[in-house]
Amino acid sequence: MLFRMRGFAELDCADEMRIEQTSLVMVVSLLCVLGWLPLLNAQLPGISARSLDAILQDYAFGAIAVRPKTGLPYDARLPSNLSGIAVSAMRLRSGSLRTRGVTSYKEFQIPIGVLEQPYVERLVLVYQNLGNWSSSFYPLPGFSYLAPVLGLLAYNGTDLSASNLPELDITASSHKPILIKFLNLSSSPDGLSPKCVFFDLHGSVQFDNMLSGDACSATQQGHFSVVVESPAPSPAPSGGEVPPPATAAGKRKSTVWIVLASLGGGLVLLAMLALLFKWLRRRIQGKKVQQMEWAADRGQTLQTKTIGNSKAPFAMGTRTRPVLENEYVP
Ligand SMILES: *[C@@H]1O[C@H](CO)[C@@H](O)[C@H](O)[C@H]1NC(C)=O
Ligand SMILES: *[C@@H]1O[C@H](CO)[C@@H](O)[C@H](O)[C@H]1NC(C)=O
Repeated sequence: MLFRMRGFAELDCADEMRIEQTSLVMVVSLLCVLGWLPLLNAQLPGISARSLDAILQDYAFGAIAVRPKTGLPYDARLPSNLSGIAVSAMRLRSGSLRTRGVTSYKEFQIPIGVLEQPYVERLVLVYQNLGNWSSSFYPLPGFSYLAPVLGLLAYNGTDLSASNLPELDITASSHKPILIKFLNLSSSPDGLSPKCVFFDLHGSVQFDNMLSGDACSATQQGHFSVVVESPAPSPAPSGGEVPPPATAAGKRKSTVWIVLASLGGGLVLLAMLALLFKWLRRRIQGKKVQQMEWAADRGQTLQTKTIGNSKAPFAMGTRTRPVLENEYVP
């Protein structure tokens, strides 16, 4: 009979081992689910919008370094893995920018009176047209792009072989702002008015009304485009370089969904794990109580011994023949 007691204790041990095995399996599967997340992230552009700025600054300076004539735009050649993006550079004396502005630099019109901070003698204005990469680098959930994202960034133009340059702050006054005249703007769906969107270099987004002539105004550097709210499938743009923004935005949206779903799955798995632990624990404790009662019924006092994390009744010798464990497994 006392051997039976030990049989119970052994059963506890076996149970604990089973819990450990089960939790190991659970933890491994949880890790598998979490392991998917970086994989999903890899579908997004491998580099951030700010690293793209740094890369494009490098290529733009490379284009201008060959014939550094001031006041002329030079188009940069980009590697094939950036095809679809256009970059140019224009070098200016800062005095000339302030007193004359730039009548036309691609889509940008820079008025007189624009100042840079800190002051430099020569600066380089880098122009970017992100083309079909616009919504990858500047995703705007709930909106569709009617034009590519255009960038205008200012750098110190003293050393044309410099990379990783910080941008200079350029500011125009609000009554004489920089104008961006978008070409080949896609038509917006009926009843929805297109909006100007501005991304500053710190990641914040501002919306503004459009001016007449498909233009937007700006008082500082950054990235600019035209968007329309997209509650339903958005229209296909007519612009040559611009891809259907809906497709890119949709891809982005589904990626977000997959990430959210995996997170949800992970949480459900965690909850199930917790429930399983609770259930097993209760089962073992129930069994212990049962076994105590059983011992008490027979007026036996049993020593308890700690096995693993649980206490179990324990006896020293065998006085009766052992009985198969199976009888006690519910
Ligand atoms: C593009 O390819 C060049 C090599 O031609 C490589 O150095 C660079 O890291 C790649 N850039 C991106 C954004 O993948
Ligand atoms: C943009 O189009 C070019 C071809 O013009 C292609 O090589 C590139 O992969 C496209 N980029 C994106 C983000 O779709």
